[in-house]
Amino acid sequence: DKIINITGKQKVADEIAAKVKDGDTLGVGSGSTSYLALIAIANRIKAEKLDVKAIPTSLEISMFCSKLGVPLTTLYENKPDWLFDGADEVDPNNSLIKGRGGAMFKEKLLLSSSAVRYIIVDESKIVTKLGANFPVPIEVFPQALLYVEKELKQLGATSIVLRPAKGKDGSIISENGNLILDCKFEDIGITMEKDIKLITGVIESGLFIGYNPTILMAANN
Ligand code: A5P
Repeated sequence: DKIINITGKQKVADEIAAKVKDGDTLGVGSGSTSYLALIAIANRIKAEKLDVKAIPTSLEISMFCSKLGVPLTTLYENKPDWLFDGADEVDPNNSLIKGRGGAMFKEKLLLSSSAVRYIIVDESKIVTKLGANFPVPIEVFPQALLYVEKELKQLGATSIVLRPAKGKDGSIISENGNLILDCKFEDIGITMEKDIKLITGVIESGLFIGYNPTILMAANN
């Protein structure tokens, strides 16, 4: 549970690409540093003719993999040997808030399926307390919206915002056909991830407490 400090996003990306071995199945997440890492990995696959497969955390990443010529696979056929992904907040215990892109269900599924986990961020993501800068995104089955909102208030939510669609009226629909609530809490305790998940109608939240990933941090100096 340490943070490895590297100067610059490209250096972090190169560090990730250097870990790729022939035959690896990789969990591939999103974010600006993850994009750079994926490009560096695609370059290695081409140059060294590596047999590498990717399991992407979102449709967006699967399209990016295809564009770069990185072969795709699924969790039905393969298990990730290791995974890299971004995050929106990292606390002193390496617990995370993720899901700015709304893909936290698949992100958590992949992270849980992978024994080796790298979270790659720049230093703006490091916080002393989760919830400092970002709300907690919560994916909700549409018909459960009102019930889930009521239960989240019981858990101490101080603000609950239905995430709006971009460029059109209405709310965002996740890749799984659900709604996303961005939720602020006064205090995010150690049981909060489980407490949220226990609400019927919650598909997943962007809280990642105790997954113990290795953090590669791009320092901005
Ligand atoms: C996806 O849901 C998020 O958790 C991303 O991984 C996150 O937004 C990282 O983006 P940047 O690295 O570009 O900040």
